[in-house]
Amino acid sequence: MKFADGLKFLQESLREGNMVGAVWPSSPALCATMAEPILRNRPDRPLRILEVGAGLGPVTEILLPQIREGDTYDIVELNPRFCAHLRERFSGTPATIHELSILDWKADSYDRIVSGLPLANFPAEVVEEIYRTFFRLMHKDAFFVMFEYLVIRQALAVATLGAERKRVRRILEIESRLLPLQREQIDILANVPPARVRVRGRPDDVEGFVL
Ligand SMILES: C[S@@+](CC[C@H](N)C(=O)[O-])C[C@H]1O[C@@H](n2cnc3c(N)ncnc32)[C@H](O)[C@@H]1O
Repeated sequence: MKFADGLKFLQESLREGNMVGAVWPSSPALCATMAEPILRNRPDRPLRILEVGAGLGPVTEILLPQIREGDTYDIVELNPRFCAHLRERFSGTPATIHELSILDWKADSYDRIVSGLPLANFPAEVVEEIYRTFFRLMHKDAFFVMFEYLVIRQALAVATLGAERKRVRRILEIESRLLPLQREQIDILANVPPARVRVRGRPDDVEGFVL
């Protein structure tokens, strides 16, 4: 990633705050760890891949050169300035950039989802809705990859009061309900702040799954 891209990201972070959820793009180590499971042991058929919250595209740039002819690579990114950057940067590639919220995205049957969404910044009801949206978008055997910053949620759950404490605790509860779906977890210390990457599958009973 170029330094100028980092500054562009910082500018958007200052402008959009909670929606961007970080002040600097994810580190190369974190992006590589997010990207790695997506194409590992891939089946011998075209894959439908969805990237959510791509920002300036540090994960996209790792994955795109590895996808095969016939694969689908959809990007859903809410921020119009990030979308403009992504369109320019990945023009002529198989990536398609969709400028909207993931909550309004209507496609389905994805095999893989990779998400950079800053869930810890969102209201708990939105976090629940986002996970339900992922389940709806996923093929039965699909999985999704996400990251969270280490310790921050747990620290917020004790260091905050009132509505904010309730919000963070509910998010931690939602995360604990997702544990049975977890396939892998990898901690990345080479990121500011350090992060945890989680790979999770889809519940068999999407409608009945309690979050
Ligand atoms: C922490 S940044 C991650 C950027 C990049 N993946 C990285 O790791 O550097 C989160 C991104 O999610 C996007 N975003 C936030 N809410 C969204 C939503 N509801 N739908 C789609 N994208 C969203 C933001 O605009 C931002 O680009």
